[in-house]
Amino acid sequence: MLLPSLILVVSFLFITHPFSVRTAPGPSPAPSSALGGEWRLLHESIGISAMHMQLLKNNKVVIFDRTDFGPSNISLPNGRCRDDPNDKVLKTDCTAHSILYDVHSNSFRALTVQTDTWCSSGAVLANGTLVQTGGFNDGDHAVRTIAACRGEGCDWVEFPHALRERRWYASNQILPDGRVVIVGGRAQYNYEFYPGDSRSIRLEFLRETKDGYENNLYPFLHLLPDGNLFIFANRQSIVLDYKQDRVVKQFPAITGGDSRNYPSSGSSVLLPLDENINPVAAEVMICGGSSHNAFQLAEKGTFLRAATTCGRLRVTDDQPVWEMEKMPSARVMSDMLLLPNGDVIIINGAGSGAAGWEAGRNPVTTPHIYKPGAPAGRRFTSVAASPRPRMYHSTAILLADGRVLVGGSNPHIYYNFTGVDFPTDLSLESFSPPYLSPEFDPLRPRIVRVSGAVGYNASFTVTFRVAEFLEAGAVSVRIMAPPFNTHSFSMSQRMVVLRGAEVSCLGSEMYAAAALGPSALEIAPPGYYVLFVVHARVPSSGIWIQIQ
Ligand SMILES: *[C@@H]1O[C@H](CO)[C@@H](O)[C@H](O)[C@H]1NC(C)=O
Ligand SMILES: *[C@@H]1O[C@H](CO)[C@@H](O)[C@H](O)[C@H]1NC(C)=O
Ligand SMILES: *[C@@H]1O[C@H](CO)[C@@H](O)[C@H](O)[C@H]1NC(C)=O
Ligand SMILES: *[C@@H]1O[C@H](CO)[C@@H](O)[C@H](O)[C@H]1NC(C)=O
Repeated sequence: MLLPSLILVVSFLFITHPFSVRTAPGPSPAPSSALGGEWRLLHESIGISAMHMQLLKNNKVVIFDRTDFGPSNISLPNGRCRDDPNDKVLKTDCTAHSILYDVHSNSFRALTVQTDTWCSSGAVLANGTLVQTGGFNDGDHAVRTIAACRGEGCDWVEFPHALRERRWYASNQILPDGRVVIVGGRAQYNYEFYPGDSRSIRLEFLRETKDGYENNLYPFLHLLPDGNLFIFANRQSIVLDYKQDRVVKQFPAITGGDSRNYPSSGSSVLLPLDENINPVAAEVMICGGSSHNAFQLAEKGTFLRAATTCGRLRVTDDQPVWEMEKMPSARVMSDMLLLPNGDVIIINGAGSGAAGWEAGRNPVTTPHIYKPGAPAGRRFTSVAASPRPRMYHSTAILLADGRVLVGGSNPHIYYNFTGVDFPTDLSLESFSPPYLSPEFDPLRPRIVRVSGAVGYNASFTVTFRVAEFLEAGAVSVRIMAPPFNTHSFSMSQRMVVLRGAEVSCLGSEMYAAAALGPSALEIAPPGYYVLFVVHARVPSSGIWIQIQ
């Protein structure tokens, strides 16, 4: 295990060159910044369609699609091939279906996945290793791990029979005790743990929310500050005490008739947990989705308008009620990501139809930024539109430098590049939210160092530079857990606003913020986080820290 100080040195090297990213050769559209924000094409082709993405602590991104839909546009390493007599398309496939993208150099290389990862899930362990679970066909009981390692030998390790149940369209969450909980999946009304005891535990809630249309896949999971799990499926939600296999709370159905989970895919975030509020309150926000029968109608050629609403639920209240709001556009299959300043970006997706093959229409290329703390009616803004539709099987994750990495889109059963409405997209783009605009540079904190380990209840100091310092009250120190993103849901996504942030001036534009590490494992499970200093809503570039 690396010493925290060493990690900080390594991370520091990274943040001193946040803009050294080499742009890809080939066409790059002119930056579109009229509405705020800027899109950049990083690669026309990364060889695969980014269906699942996870940022690791070395600023590399693990990306994969599926092994059973024909040859990709990148070869497996070392001339290897994959033999699968059950594959529906290619019994022998010498192409790769996973890559490792290096943010720093804007380069990528192929990884080796041998079994099918289609519509699977994942979570990062406390030591920074990604654990991916399930998939389809020969991969539906598999667990695959990849460490945040270096060098050509760094690749997937597969355990094909490690899961108790088949996990296809399940959701995962990292837990305070270091295990991962894996919930649901197609025809799975239960959950299990990794590492587990070969047991799966019934969860009738998942059967009850099926309602004949199965709009309860990829259930939304959030770990609450009391250690229980919030689970949302279709329109219903509960709190599960997974330690005692007990449903301890049931919430009213979200207002309105729309379903919110796959194939009526909306998205969900746990809004930032603020440790300066005691006890820490937890609030969930769910946006978009579609009518319960949108997928069935799309298959018959009718594409219903997607849901326009978001609902917020303060799950730690005694009698929580859904507070509904209207988005500037109807959206299904959008991703919701927390941004370092506590805003939420709603990005990718379509305006009508549903998730699933050929089931979406009217791409929504304009992201919305939602400010949770602004007065009602003034929370949404729209930013620059993406040059490309990002439909079913598209992804988005936040990078440590504050950009959003966007890829994927493949609403077809194979890699279909021609003769279809929304061709399979192998590209990778980045979106720089408006806070990265140079006009905010005078207000932007630049982290110089972190003194002391960011342990539980431990005090530490972040030294940063800022040219135009407003006031101590405008500074906060936050940590973010980078999520596993697929199918419009960012699993284990989490932001904690830390206590303290008393700021002292050290002279010549240099300041020190004293802060306290998280108060509980339930608030921030052990692991690697990206730490940001935010000043006047403008975030620094983030650095990696380990909480243990
Ligand atoms: C496949 O990759 C090559 C570069 O290796 C690129 O020129 C081509 O456009 C890619 N094909 C697709 C369909 O993206
Ligand atoms: C990370 O933890 C897992 C589970 O304890 C273990 O199997 C794996 O070897 C560890 N990886 C590293 C790189 O330490
Ligand atoms: C996608 O490509 C496959 C294989 O070429 C073809 O059979 C299928 O019809 C295509 N799908 C669409 C929607 O055109
Ligand atoms: C942090 O301090 C609080 C208050 O003193 C205490 O209740 C809590 O158990 C501590 N957390 C940890 C992880 O030690």
